[in-house]
Amino acid sequence: MSSTLHTAGRVADDPWSSWLNHRRDGGDPAIRARVADETAAFAGKLLNLAPATPAAMLDIGSGAGLVAWAALARWPHLTVTLTDISAPLLAQAETEAQARRVSHQCRFLHSGAEGLPGAEAAAYDLVTSRSAIAYAADKTAAFRAAFRVLRPGGALCIAEPLFHEEALAARALRNLTETSADPLLPLLHKWKAAQFPDTEATAQANPLTNYTERDMLGFARQAGFGELHLELHIDERPAPKRDWAAFCATAPHPLAPPLTEILATRFTPAERARFETALRPSIEGGKFMTTSRMLYLRGRKPLTARLGVA
Ligand SMILES: C[S@@+](CC[C@H](N)C(=O)[O-])C[C@H]1O[C@@H](n2cnc3c(N)ncnc32)[C@H](O)[C@@H]1O
Repeated sequence: MSSTLHTAGRVADDPWSSWLNHRRDGGDPAIRARVADETAAFAGKLLNLAPATPAAMLDIGSGAGLVAWAALARWPHLTVTLTDISAPLLAQAETEAQARRVSHQCRFLHSGAEGLPGAEAAAYDLVTSRSAIAYAADKTAAFRAAFRVLRPGGALCIAEPLFHEEALAARALRNLTETSADPLLPLLHKWKAAQFPDTEATAQANPLTNYTERDMLGFARQAGFGELHLELHIDERPAPKRDWAAFCATAPHPLAPPLTEILATRFTPAERARFETALRPSIEGGKFMTTSRMLYLRGRKPLTARLGVA
């Protein structure tokens, strides 16, 4: 593709790029490799939902290009529009496209999910999003925008994380601190409440925790999508052994502070020591479980406008 709306070059990090590039794995090479495997699997499952060989695809919240590169490997004649609100990630993806020699098939658009300004109407036969619509404050608008840019018959395929149970867990810890004398509970609560809302009101007000997989299905239906298909994948597995410092440097999502920052700003020195004594052996010994909750959703823009639908 000849036109790019973004120019590659060094752009200062923002919370999105610093999380994708550093805070997601805390600089631990083993965790980085594990994340790379996991996210490649997410992208593969997402693309498996696409109904036919697409010619033109738009990826919402493309980040450093995970889904775009996987799609280009699968469909070598594809053209891809990568859209994101993060200028540094778009610049990074543009540099990566050059390295992969696929620049001529890519366009980079600095554009938010809610509206996709700059993207032409009815121009794409596949719209994808992986862990990006989750952050959109107005998800109804995001689904409407995806519908607008798809050609009739085109498909929307998304894979989005579900975090409402993390908010429930933070709320449970908050309640437990009021009824239990266990001195560790207030510290666990401080940690979790810094990363996820811990009251019903704040969870409802937070775009990351105020939806379920069924809400996403409803947003797609309201936007006009048909032939809806939803899968909920919950995977529980043992956490790998982690180096304590690297563990503290990680955050569970781009808008959450890492544990290092939480310990420095919200804990007293005595609390920090108690917290580390209690948790470090389990972290370094790989004694925790991790749970990933992802929804996979496919919908199709009808070939003709439906008549008489209530
Ligand atoms: C967790 S990262 C995922 C990136 C990429 N899709 C991937 O799978 O690696 C979230 C991405 O969504 C982007 N993002 C956040 N809010 C957005 C919005 N309202 N519209 C478009 N992109 C958004 C961020 O800049 C970031 O690139």
